[in-house]
Amino acid sequence: MKIINHPLIAHQLTIMRDKNTNSSTFRLCLRCLSFFLAYEVTANLKTKKIKVHTPISMAIGEKNKTPIVLVPILRAGLGMVDGFKEAIPFARIGHIGMYREEKTQQPVQYYAKFPKQIKNGIVIILDPMLATGKTIARTIDLIKKYHPQKIKFCSVVSCREGIEYVSKCHPDVELYTAAIDKKLNKNKYIVPGLGDAGDRIFGTK
Ligand code: URA
Repeated sequence: MKIINHPLIAHQLTIMRDKNTNSSTFRLCLRCLSFFLAYEVTANLKTKKIKVHTPISMAIGEKNKTPIVLVPILRAGLGMVDGFKEAIPFARIGHIGMYREEKTQQPVQYYAKFPKQIKNGIVIILDPMLATGKTIARTIDLIKKYHPQKIKFCSVVSCREGIEYVSKCHPDVELYTAAIDKKLNKNKYIVPGLGDAGDRIFGTK
């Protein structure tokens, strides 16, 4: 797990944690913060050398080598897409929808749509909260069936329990977060966290 420390990320996250922050400010902070997360998450990507012609002469430049596919987990992951798209405008976007089955408490997929570049591409899964890790681990299970070259997962707030669960299920996946919080409460919310990310993004509470 890589913790992304940056004063601007810490600043935006603090505003997001505040229960008095309204939905539009929350969304804006998440978008800004996601831009900086994207910068760090993509820091080890490979480039290929190419020739370009400037108005003056030929120059050797670099281009991203492997297609990048962002996969937000519906619905809170959607809040991170704009920031990531600003940092990686050429990224393709897939979507995955998961809900928690009431009886078993297990995550169940209800929607999935991916671009064909997922095969052999670099997939960056987006979800602001890494809580129990079950939804994330299940999402990774599904994405692996499409044979991407690499999978990364990026959250804003996570907790040890979730990190351990996902790392155990998928040791090959790179995990990134802006903060590791204390614990989960009995309702599986992160403490102190920022509440229900989906509700806060979409103003549903
Ligand atoms: N999902 C959320 O939106 N918040 C949490 O604290 C945990 C899971």
